Amino acid sequence: MSEKVRILLSEEEVDKKICEIAQQISKDYEGKEVHLVCVLKGGVFFMCELAKRITVPVSMDFMALSSYGNGTESTGKIKVKKELDESIEGKDVLVVEDIVDSRRTLSFLLGELQSRNPASLHLCTLLDKPDRRVVDIKADYTCFEIPDEFVVGYGLDYAQRYRNLPYIGIVEIEKED
Ligand code: IMP
Ligand code: MG
Repeated sequence: MSEKVRILLSEEEVDKKICEIAQQISKDYEGKEVHLVCVLKGGVFFMCELAKRITVPVSMDFMALSSYGNGTESTGKIKVKKELDESIEGKDVLVVEDIVDSRRTLSFLLGELQSRNPASLHLCTLLDKPDRRVVDIKADYTCFEIPDEFVVGYGLDYAQRYRNLPYIGIVEIEKED
């Protein structure tokens, strides 16, 4: 078997969209400081590109959760693997995600963060798979809605590979006979 990655969203398309979303965030948070909370590892590439283009003051923290094994289907069980370094109490928190799929991870994460009394709590995601929703959460900022396909690149992995691709692609497994 061999794997091929077909481009779904090019580097140019992704960059252009991130600029637009960063502009919108900068407008919405005018006069405030935005505290970005990145969900590792997948959110990190998007967070960096987004943060570079936001014009209001930015601070950042990182959290790691686990919901997937090494495959492509969620196990439904979520654990905190790495805690935030700083308290979010009184801060304008913007969660930065790579992708929202079933939203099980997010519903756990948003509940957890809300209980820590931020001044506000919003969500920004690079990708959204609306068809896969099992929990009803809508992101405040979504770069792209995509079909129900397993995607990689821009931080997203398949068994820890392909995170470094500068575009979003679909992994195609080819059987050799
Ligand atoms: P959830 O199903 O919304 O809880 O998704 C949780 C996590 O699964 C995401 O943050 C990703 O890390 C991972 N995930 C979901 N869909 C994909 C995909 O198409 N490619 C790579 N990772 C994915
Ligand atoms: Mg993630």
